[in-house]
Amino acid sequence: MLEIRIAKNGTDLREAMNIRRSIFVDEQRLYTISDEDEFDSQATHLLAAANGNIVGTVRVYSGKNGTWWGGRLAILPSSRGKDTGSSLVKAAVELVREAKAKRFLAYIQSQNVPFFERLGWKKVEDISCCGLPHVLMEAPL
Ligand SMILES: CC(C)(COP(=O)(O)OP(=O)(O)OC[C@H]1O[C@@H](n2cnc3c(N)ncnc32)[C@H](O)[C@@H]1OP(=O)(O)O)[C@@H](O)C(=O)NCCC(=O)NCCS
Repeated sequence: MLEIRIAKNGTDLREAMNIRRSIFVDEQRLYTISDEDEFDSQATHLLAAANGNIVGTVRVYSGKNGTWWGGRLAILPSSRGKDTGSSLVKAAVELVREAKAKRFLAYIQSQNVPFFERLGWKKVEDISCCGLPHVLMEAPL
């Protein structure tokens, strides 16, 4: 059974950061030591738990002028292709919608653009991020 919930304590957060590190540092090599940054302390971190085990995460945080930002969507390889990523993105959009955001944006790795388009996100512009092609995308609110 898949459960999507907000990280509620230090243990939850450590698990989310461990998943992120295993993917963004070890698997994708986007960062050398850690992908953690100054936005983590203000972000809401959503977790996906499959049969009680945390297998994925995404973060959202509010920026300027009613714009919210999403990022660091990461699903453990063994849990991919089972709707985990989609469920996390939908929950993130719902959270941001309830917060009355004006816009919800994210920098998306180019190879994942079709995944977000299937969820109704639209391309805003092409950009480079971490030395890799990314696309700024906007969620339907
Ligand atoms: C991209 C990622 C989040 C997708 O998560 P996931 O749990 O595998 O996705 P889902 O199972 O919810 O996928 C739903 C559908 O989208 C498809 N899909 C998944 N990734 C896709 C991609 N990159 N491009 C196109 N379609 C994709 C799935 O095949 C599935 O299709 P189906 O319903 O016809 O079977 C996951 O592969 C991941 O963590 N990748 C590494 C980290 C990463 O790239 N993060 C995103 C940074 S922008």
